[in-house]
Amino acid sequence: MSDSSYDVIIIGGGPGGYVCAIRAAQLGLKTACFESRGALGGTCLNVGCIPSKALLQSSHFYDEANTHFADHGIKVGDVKLDLKTMMARKDTVVTELTQGIEFLFKKNKVDYFKGLGSITKAELGAHEVTVKPDGKGKAQKINAKNVVIATGSEVTPLPGVDIDEKTIVSSTGALDLKKVPKSMVVIGAGVIGLEMGSVWRRLGADVTVVEYLDFILPPMDAEVRKQMQRILEKQGLKFKLGSKVTGVKATKTGATVSVEPAAGGDAETLKADVVLVAIGRRPFTQGLGLDKAGVNLTDRGFVEVDDHFQTNVEGIFAIGDVIGGMMLAHKAEDEGVVVAESLTGLTPHINYDAIASVVYTWPEVAGVGKTEEQLKEAGTKYKSGKFPFTANSRAAPTATRMAL
Ligand code: FAD
Ligand code: NAI
Repeated sequence: MSDSSYDVIIIGGGPGGYVCAIRAAQLGLKTACFESRGALGGTCLNVGCIPSKALLQSSHFYDEANTHFADHGIKVGDVKLDLKTMMARKDTVVTELTQGIEFLFKKNKVDYFKGLGSITKAELGAHEVTVKPDGKGKAQKINAKNVVIATGSEVTPLPGVDIDEKTIVSSTGALDLKKVPKSMVVIGAGVIGLEMGSVWRRLGADVTVVEYLDFILPPMDAEVRKQMQRILEKQGLKFKLGSKVTGVKATKTGATVSVEPAAGGDAETLKADVVLVAIGRRPFTQGLGLDKAGVNLTDRGFVEVDDHFQTNVEGIFAIGDVIGGMMLAHKAEDEGVVVAESLTGLTPHINYDAIASVVYTWPEVAGVGKTEEQLKEAGTKYKSGKFPFTANSRAAPTATRMAL
């Protein structure tokens, strides 16, 4: 091993990777983090949680000013949208936060290597990772006792559909549209579909969400899902449930979407200025050299780990979206902390039933632990309780609007 060898190298600088790196360095481990996108923070800070929440916040203000301020006795006159400024604010929020992580790396003495990391030798106590800076510079070979794979996930493509990030977009393109489309078809009524669908609906687009299942927001409690659908419909979102998208074609003016009932029946064609494909995310392991390193993947392409996040190769760990489970930033972060602490002999533990998930629509909807359906299916005894928002003075005006 050379002098420049590390206790731990983390491949991927997203919420899993950067938190793992900082915690490892705080605990005294010599730590390096490799990130290929040119900025730290991963999907979450660059093209996920942060920009989507910035736009959700801005579009919420716009919608409130347009439709509800008058109820509160606030007169604002003619409300106008300046999309360029809204997008510039979002970009500033992203840059400040990603630079903040770089600052934290310096402060905590994490060495940051910009480039694509690939495991080139799996050798107990002296794994080798090669980092290739984009386009320029020489590849560098670096050794470490431990390697943590935190390479995240990417958009699941819809077979036969070409995402150009302008007319047919993933969440990344939907975060950066140059003008408000008159019409938008969203494929998938999951978290991304409803959050980004809400943003563009509030800003003026006519939004239709096409969902394969008979309900929206699959992981949520059934009663919550039903209520949320009613609320979002009142806000102007249209839903086509139990519907399968069989093709999307770009046209001169936008795109056409071919839709069939999932249970079979006549097909129809929807036209839209912009189509958002939001049918889930899949693990990203391209270029990592896992084959050569002998690291096992599951049949769905996730990196396989044991209860301690260790792969089948000793000293190689994996955390975050790339191992599956809930694809949430704070879940990835917790796993990062657990791996870092385990490497120094501590015995941390994660209770996945205590990891909350939130959909940042309006109102926001949150869940933690098992849903009622899951408890019923498992035959677990439970008590259910409800409290109406109408009885909460701060929520009351919203509840009245929703006419629950
Ligand atoms: P990632 O954040 O994907 O980071 C992995 C990083 O590894 C990437 O930056 C990638 O460039 C890098 N990388 C990959 N391969 C290599 C390599 N070989 N060498 C070097 N670097 C590499 N979650 C929430 O909890 N709350 C939210 O509100 C939320 N909103 C979201 C909104 C959108 C639109 C999207 C798409 C996701 C959202 N998520 C949200 C999910 C969240 O972004 C992910 O769960 C989280 O980013 C996973 O973290 P990670 O560290 O596992 O992976
Ligand atoms: P998702 O898994 O939440 O939803 C995808 C939806 O698409 C499902 O309802 C599914 O039934 C549907 N679908 C799949 N194939 C289809 C088809 N061919 N036609 C029509 N519908 C189809 O995935 P999504 O929304 O892409 O989000 C990915 C991940 O990102 C989520 O797992 C989530 O954890 C994370 N995320 C989290 C957020 C948060 O915490 N607030 C915000 C945004 C994303």
